[in-house]
Amino acid sequence: MKVILLLIIYFRSRVMALNYHLFPKNFIFGTATAAYQVEGAWNEDGKGESIWDRVLHEYPDWVVDKTNGEIACDSYHKYKEDVQLLKSLGIHFYRFSISWSRILPTGKADQINQAGINYYNNLINELLNNGIQPYVTMFHWDLPQALQDEGGWVERKIVNYFVDYAKVLFDHFGDRVKSWLTFNEVLQFCEGGYSLGEFAPFVQKPGVGGYLCGHHVLLAHGATYRLYENYYKEKQNGKIGIAVDCAWYEPDNPNWDKDQKISEITMQMTCGWFLNPIIFGNYPEIMIEMVRQNSLAKSRLPEFTPNEQKLLGGAVDFIGLNHYSTFKVYPATKKLYNQPSLFSDIGGILYHDASWPETAFFYFKIVPWGIRKVLVWIKNHYNNPPVLITENGFGDDGRLDDYDRADYFRQYLYEILKAIQEDSCNVTGYTAWSLMDTFEWMSGYMVRFGLYHVDFNDTERPRNRKLSSYVYSDIITTRRISWDYYPKWPPS
Ligand code: BGC
Repeated sequence: MKVILLLIIYFRSRVMALNYHLFPKNFIFGTATAAYQVEGAWNEDGKGESIWDRVLHEYPDWVVDKTNGEIACDSYHKYKEDVQLLKSLGIHFYRFSISWSRILPTGKADQINQAGINYYNNLINELLNNGIQPYVTMFHWDLPQALQDEGGWVERKIVNYFVDYAKVLFDHFGDRVKSWLTFNEVLQFCEGGYSLGEFAPFVQKPGVGGYLCGHHVLLAHGATYRLYENYYKEKQNGKIGIAVDCAWYEPDNPNWDKDQKISEITMQMTCGWFLNPIIFGNYPEIMIEMVRQNSLAKSRLPEFTPNEQKLLGGAVDFIGLNHYSTFKVYPATKKLYNQPSLFSDIGGILYHDASWPETAFFYFKIVPWGIRKVLVWIKNHYNNPPVLITENGFGDDGRLDDYDRADYFRQYLYEILKAIQEDSCNVTGYTAWSLMDTFEWMSGYMVRFGLYHVDFNDTERPRNRKLSSYVYSDIITTRRISWDYYPKWPPS
């Protein structure tokens, strides 16, 4: 009897130990791209011009290798092949974005481009026919140029234009798309596009433009969420999220209060800048205070009216988290810049620890534990909302035997697993960025993130599977991380 009992205990603990390293049964795996980075066909079949088309035609030298997304991966023509690539990976969902100006060439909903609607209908149907769920980002940075001509995201009227666009998307695709992300990385396109002048539309108004842009994006997100909730949700039964990019800002010296404080302020004014309003209805208190302190008569951070706060509070079904890297932060002892900016409002100085391994992007170092800290931070600040990792990935030179990318995925996924199992974080899925090498914005085709290699010198844009894609597929099918699994290489 005693022996049987001992055997039962032994086998139970074995099973538990094995399960411990398994991703939960309902955890989903996917991969992603964005319209401007893969579609090409920049002016085909009635598509309107976007701000990225415009700036990269006007200033070709600004991209490292002087390229642009005119053709990119040619996914506009090769979407069927792309779906087969997805199928071979064994993923559950594909996150792609819709090009606003392909659907509405002038940005406005009074003129719908049927060819654009057809393209996305075909893609969505092809995905579903192959058992892959479409996860659709409405805006991944490629604003219609016609709307930028009216001021773009710093003008209040853009809120209505976006909601009209969202309505067109719900009307045409909502019967089949059940997971929407309104925006991708507001911090990047608002700060990069309207404060620092580093991204399209290259407006330089530091400390002002980014806040205005962010304000209108948040209002557009809130109004879109309510539109869906009131008019579509009952029938279409989908979910609406937003993809925020949250790096982790580690206190320079974790034992010092001042470093802990600046780490928290930096998290609040980057990640919390967008999460706080859509969860609690307003900007983080500390952000309101810091910008006010650093402004002259009136704060440079716009205010939400009580009605807007009501519109925003709780306007999200799941958080999309894009995470690539970690920084260390310590407080600045004197004023940082002679003109206002987000980071002078924050009052922190960032740096990378010299021991952290590099990637091809100098500002992305490999710091796997950072993602776990972000997940715990989100859990603690926002009552453990469902979080889908909407981007995480590794940039290199495009080699096929990408061992470093395979290890990056394993290490980051292991930290995610710990966040789920040891910290009880509500993480529902993971998206590897990206399905294939793409047009990497200001780095052109010099930095590659793909699970598949794309030959951009060949007009056919052939795709080839990289080693890391087999490792990712293995994790998906076994739901565990096998540290020593490598496919036979090169494959026969
Ligand atoms: C963006 C992607 C980009 C990736 C790698 C993210 O910030 O959403 O479009 O390709 O980072 O740089």
